[in-house]
Amino acid sequence: MGICFSRGLRDFVIVSALCAALLFVVTFAARAQEENPLAKDPNAAKLGEFEFRANCAFCHGLGARGGGRGPDLTRAQKKHGNSDAELFRTINEGVPGTAMPQNGATQQGVGMTEEEIWQVISYIRSVQVKTPTQPTGNAVRGKELFSGSAACATCHMIQGKGGRLGPDLTATGSARSIEYIVDSVRNPSRRLAQGISEAMKEFTQEYETVTVVDAGGQKFQGVVLNEDSFTLQMLDTREQLHLFEKDKVRSVEKSRESLMPKYDEKMLPEKDLQDIVAYLLSQGSSK
Ligand code: HEC
Ligand code: HEC
Repeated sequence: MGICFSRGLRDFVIVSALCAALLFVVTFAARAQEENPLAKDPNAAKLGEFEFRANCAFCHGLGARGGGRGPDLTRAQKKHGNSDAELFRTINEGVPGTAMPQNGATQQGVGMTEEEIWQVISYIRSVQVKTPTQPTGNAVRGKELFSGSAACATCHMIQGKGGRLGPDLTATGSARSIEYIVDSVRNPSRRLAQGISEAMKEFTQEYETVTVVDAGGQKFQGVVLNEDSFTLQMLDTREQLHLFEKDKVRSVEKSRESLMPKYDEKMLPEKDLQDIVAYLLSQGSSK
């Protein structure tokens, strides 16, 4: 700031006051549209992940994919703004009136430092999906497919209508990334769905497939609803509920092979899948 040097004492006082004011304005303006100063630091995302696990995963899920109490942060389109500065503000100030706390409100002691917040933002950027956020499909057609030829509704409920074997998909569009949904349809067994609200429980409740042969030799297949040392509750593929006493059956076999059919391109062309994704996303945002 060369212009700020002055010889006379009076001038000096005035000019430095002006300079201070100018500096203040400049820093303030810069702050309002600040970009992540750590954006190019390769270690920032790693450190941020550490912070994230400690302070945020409880609500936003591991991998920031959304948990019982917080939305999926891997979606490119953020409700409270996508810019670095807006993310900073959301994380620092929280979202009043929601469970999203202000920085420092949930941990013991002081909150994250400014640097740590930028690290968390680096981490969020590193897991954020790179695909366009607007679904390219046609939601109206997707709805027809969902309950029509693609038969998703035989196993999945949306807004209270549909089957119960698979998870309710009403909120899936707002809690999951497009990539996650596409992958769930193309490769159901890769990652079994978790009850969304159960995600952070000690025993995660997954949609595990189970096959039980009862004492009379009859075979049942379905998903585990509940289980303890002695009993197993199952919803079979015809949506019949069964309660088995484990010592009274011939066998109980669990598998991580999803009961959901693997929809390949022949069963469900890419365009149809995009329409269904658009339908699921339209559900998510209408809430
Ligand atoms: C107690 C639960 C909870 C914790 C802990 C929490 N959040 Fe949130 N967060 C929420 C909820 C709920 C929302 C959605 C607020 C709303 O309704 O708009 C949210 C929203 C956000 C958003 C805005 C998303 C958007 O679409 O605009 C960001 C970013 C975010 N959280 C980051 C974080 C980070 C980073 C941490 C850890 C430092 C954290 N949150 C800790 C519950 C939580
Ligand atoms: C025969 C029953 C069945 C049919 C038909 C079916 N699903 Fe599924 N689906 C399941 C089950 C069971 C799960 C839970 C296990 C898993 O994750 O694969 C599941 C999981 C999912 C998930 C993951 C949800 C999450 O939160 O992780 C999505 C998304 C999904 N299904 C979408 C669809 C769509 C779209 C269709 C139609 C194209 C469809 N499903 C057809 C049974 C079915």
